[in-house]
Amino acid sequence: MICASEWVVDRSAALPLLASGQTQHVFPWPASGADEVIKVPAFDSRLRATPVVAGDCRPVRTIPRIAYRCTIEPVSALVEHLGDPVAHVLRPARDRLLTRLWRALTRRAFLRMLECIRVAERTGVQGVLLRSRPVDQVALMLGLPSGPVAYFGPALMQERADGFVDAVPALPEADWDLVVDAQHALWRHGLAIADVAAALTPFNWANTRDGLRLGDTGSLTRDQSVAEAALAPSTVAEYREYVLARTPSVLKRTVSQKLDRAIRRITPAALRVLWCSG
Ligand SMILES: Nc1ncnc2c1ncn2[C@@H]1O[C@H](COP(=O)(O)OP(=O)(O)O)[C@@H](O)[C@H]1O
Ligand SMILES: [Mg+2]
Repeated sequence: MICASEWVVDRSAALPLLASGQTQHVFPWPASGADEVIKVPAFDSRLRATPVVAGDCRPVRTIPRIAYRCTIEPVSALVEHLGDPVAHVLRPARDRLLTRLWRALTRRAFLRMLECIRVAERTGVQGVLLRSRPVDQVALMLGLPSGPVAYFGPALMQERADGFVDAVPALPEADWDLVVDAQHALWRHGLAIADVAAALTPFNWANTRDGLRLGDTGSLTRDQSVAEAALAPSTVAEYREYVLARTPSVLKRTVSQKLDRAIRRITPAALRVLWCSG
């Protein structure tokens, strides 16, 4: 358990931001002797690459998701089409609401992710992941670009990786078969990666001395239907097109071969066969 209350009073010792994705803020963790990072659920929407939109706030479960799609999404889209002066008032209110929803959703998803990591530890499949340690509650001073912010809440300690794959051009060198084998191991223990990019390619994985490990654990799920939905044929086809469009011509052949090999082995049907087969 980390006891870091001294960070809260010492604003000058705020942890500098290392990186931020769409769902987690990442900071170096100097307090441990080892080279580690500490991750917290993203809460500053200004650090996102794209502004929060209604599609970012969809609940995971089916009924709340349908309700959301029938209410908040159309209302949010309607506000976009309103003329001034109504839009002038409603748009900031809509954006504030969406940001709050996104923050709450991100935090809940983070807690579910910590539970997935605990399941991986219990079932002995944690070797697929970058060495990670969930922490229920931390008190930290975080150095965000907008200034220091006190943070209380859950966190994930993780081994710091130099070779974090977070760009498409970095993909061809890695051994994609490891990504496939690792996922089959996760499926056997009732865990899956519900993100087409990390499921089919080493994107969000990290190259370590011991080989490829999943670094962005944010898309882990214990929900079989969520995992299957992430591998829907339309999603896979769209992602294939996206990757190939960003791959330099000289690498297109290699990448399409690797991608197609992964697509053949990472399918909803294979998932159903292996799910919880221990
Ligand atoms: N363990 C790590 N070591 C080094 N850099 C990391 C580590 N984890 C994350 N990062 C950096 O932080 C970014 C965001 O972290 P990530 O886990 O992918 O969060 P998100 O779910 O928000 O995408 C990554 O793309 C990477 O650049
Ligand atoms: Mg990521």
